[in-house]
Amino acid sequence: MRQVYMDHSATTPVDPEVFEAMVPYLTDRFGNPSSIYSAGRAARQGMEKAREQVASLLNASPDEIIFTSGGTEADNQAIIGYATANRHKGNHIITSAIEHHAVYDTCKYLSRNGFEVTFLPVDGNGVVEPETLKAVLKPTTLLVSIMHANNEVGTIEPIKELATITHEAGAAFHCDAVQTVGRIPVDVVDLGVDMLSASSHKLYGPKGTGCLYLKKGIKVESYLHGGGQERKHRPGTENIPGIVGFGKAAELAQARVDETGKRLRELGGRLAQGLLNAIPHSRLTGHPVNRIPGHVSLCFEFVEGESILLMLDQAGVMASSGSACTSGSLEPSHVLLALGLPHEIAHGSLRLTLGKGNSDEDVDYVLNTLPGIVERLRQMSPLYMKAGER
Ligand SMILES: Cc1ncc(COP(=O)(O)O)c(C=O)c1O
Repeated sequence: MRQVYMDHSATTPVDPEVFEAMVPYLTDRFGNPSSIYSAGRAARQGMEKAREQVASLLNASPDEIIFTSGGTEADNQAIIGYATANRHKGNHIITSAIEHHAVYDTCKYLSRNGFEVTFLPVDGNGVVEPETLKAVLKPTTLLVSIMHANNEVGTIEPIKELATITHEAGAAFHCDAVQTVGRIPVDVVDLGVDMLSASSHKLYGPKGTGCLYLKKGIKVESYLHGGGQERKHRPGTENIPGIVGFGKAAELAQARVDETGKRLRELGGRLAQGLLNAIPHSRLTGHPVNRIPGHVSLCFEFVEGESILLMLDQAGVMASSGSACTSGSLEPSHVLLALGLPHEIAHGSLRLTLGKGNSDEDVDYVLNTLPGIVERLRQMSPLYMKAGER
């Protein structure tokens, strides 16, 4: 049976060139980068090369890159680290209602520990409107954290405008760019951000590695305590093979981002339009145009997203759903609800995210498979019957 992986927003396979670059650091170059002998120096050189590769992808300077264990840690380090180090400047933090839990729950944590947090609403397409931000900034605002693109609905946020407004109010700006780094051009200077989080496993690098871009002069205090690695920003012996892989993935992404983005935008557009045409009572979620290339998020009425996933899996298609049954709760995702979707519609969500390995044939396969699955599930749905559709 054909196997079609369409969950690249969850994770991506490691690129063979990335794997090859990592192997020596799992074998000969195993040294601790803090050691002064040759094996240690070789490990350090590998790490510093990776720092340059990642910095180049982001248009940052290598000494502005702090390696972390991934996007979650980068988000925590940025938000908790900045809030702790700059508490004297104020205690108000602004974020959006559609952030990934790595930001959302970190802000909630700070709200239980003496900080005031505002969760900005978004419009029906998932956009954080600059005027909404302007209206809630105040003299005590310390930090604004808004994601570059949303993982569930793919919407790309107007970061440049939001960062400018934030700076005019005297606060700092953090951006969770885990979903965009490697997928669209991300330039920290052009965006005007002070801090930015990225994660290796979203751009064909290994899992468990990421980075925080920390603009020169921005002060953060690490909540981890230990050795003086990463210029005292992130103690702990560095994950050298992971970091080297992240560096290689960044180099490859930089060379391919425009071309791959264009192809995925076309493939994703064909998939979305084909499904919307073939399946009645369906809608696209997120922004119709300003979205991650190859990100297709939909809601189907009268069906559960989880049931679609199970049947797609039986047909060899791997995708995901925004509804939260997976996390053991019956609540649909906070993102879909923030977009104003009613519960019953949010429960029928499906996310298909394409990557560089997907072909036209993969898209055709899903276009041929999914409409029948939705129809079969609807035939079993009492709600569908009640609505007079059967
Ligand atoms: C927007 C966003 N932020 C943060 C994360 C967490 O990244 P990591 O898996 O590297 O911890 C993810 C992962 O899906 C994400 O999509």
